[in-house]
Amino acid sequence: MGLLIGLDIGTSTTKALLLDTDKGVIGSVTADYPLYSPHPGWSEQEPEDMWQATVKAVRGLLEKFNVDPEAVKGIGLSGQMHSSVFLDSSFNVIRPAILWNDTRTSAQCRYIIENVDPDLLVSEVCNPVLEGFTLPKVLWLRDNEPENFQKLRHLVLPKDYVRFRLTGNLHMEVSDAAGMLMMNVREKVWSEPVLASLGLSSEILPPIIDSTEVGGTLSEVAASLTGLPAGIPVVGGGADNACGAVGSGVVKEGRGMVSLGSSGVLLAHLKEPKLITRGTVHMFNSCVPNQFYMMGVMLAAGLSLSWLRDQLGREQYTYNIMTELAEKAKPGSKGLLFLPYLTGERTPHGDANARGTFVGISSTHGKAELIRAVLEGVAFGLCDSLELLRSAGWNGTAIRALGGGARSPLWKEIIASATGLALEEINIDEGPALGAAILAGVGAGIYQDVAEASDSTIKVIGVVEPNQEWRKVYVDLYEVYKDLYPALKEPFSKLAKFA
Ligand code: XUL
Repeated sequence: MGLLIGLDIGTSTTKALLLDTDKGVIGSVTADYPLYSPHPGWSEQEPEDMWQATVKAVRGLLEKFNVDPEAVKGIGLSGQMHSSVFLDSSFNVIRPAILWNDTRTSAQCRYIIENVDPDLLVSEVCNPVLEGFTLPKVLWLRDNEPENFQKLRHLVLPKDYVRFRLTGNLHMEVSDAAGMLMMNVREKVWSEPVLASLGLSSEILPPIIDSTEVGGTLSEVAASLTGLPAGIPVVGGGADNACGAVGSGVVKEGRGMVSLGSSGVLLAHLKEPKLITRGTVHMFNSCVPNQFYMMGVMLAAGLSLSWLRDQLGREQYTYNIMTELAEKAKPGSKGLLFLPYLTGERTPHGDANARGTFVGISSTHGKAELIRAVLEGVAFGLCDSLELLRSAGWNGTAIRALGGGARSPLWKEIIASATGLALEEINIDEGPALGAAILAGVGAGIYQDVAEASDSTIKVIGVVEPNQEWRKVYVDLYEVYKDLYPALKEPFSKLAKFA
């Protein structure tokens, strides 16, 4: 029936994936770009790099799989959430994008909390005020770079910028718009009352489109750069976690997923929105039209493990060797606990100053315990998110596991045992790029609807159940884990000035 391209504009790479609607996923190609951190806590990228990587990845995809460009029927986009691309009146980029994992905006978050009626925040934007979200970044620009703020005419997120470069049309797709703290999530319109409370106007925000809506067609310029024919429909697509959910079959009430990339996400699909009045659970629009999802986001899941690997020696300590060592340690790592807050934490603490910590090191602990404690600390962080999803009414018993960390059977067993959830393994783990390709298929009229297309493509092929022996240890240890952050909150904030 046709070929579809899913593009995922990630934090370190753009991935281009080819989906054949008859044969399934053909394969993918990635192209990298750098991340800049000019000051501690800052995280930036050049939107032009994202665009160049997109062109490179698409060309690479066509070449690698010898694709007939005329057979491509649609393009969908997914991308890192919250990261601000600031454009001037001629649609030129004003400054590097400020990314989702940048924590410079604590003062602006306080300003929002002081100036916007809390009931408005709950009922309109439906989300907590956190450093990583987009609204505080706009206020940061106003406070710190007034000359750039003067030039600001259009604000978009990375994948919506890339769609603009592909089609010439500027839109914000709804599941990503939800993470800006500027949209009424339930009504899918820019929140004039919230913006007005802060002296901002929705004039800088482009029209909102749905995930499956065609936002434009491939322009002549983009066609000549990518090697695809002009006129291919390009759909709205979705935020990376929303597309990850479509790409793992989490498209129905009751289903959930854990995604173990650099960050760690625990997500539950919702048919109806929930008004969550406390805590740091996010509630965003799903790519399934007019449905929603809630999730907890840990900033350093895989990042904690890769950090440890770098400290031990990347050459010698492959993930396989680290896993073999961790398997030798006992569950509970002989009383060694790890708090995975290397870059601050979103869920559950919403604290940019929180930091990674090993607690309880003794002379009997070695590398095996250090590694296992990191795997267990991330699992306990997910337990924190699970508690919040439970208190918001989620009662699922199984979640689908995806992302690089989901390739580790040990980590899955630890997470299953700590959370008490069954971890489902899926037939294709291509993540957000697959979700984006499926959305393109719906927009191009090849699939009838998102949930049906996702459900018929992605199947559960295995289950990792909680290990009941380990669970006994983890239930008790989690109680100790929960005591640590409150005890360290104050020292963390005092340490910030030494960083
Ligand atoms: C979600 C979030 C991260 C980024 C990672 O709120 O900030 O998952 O989208 O790309």
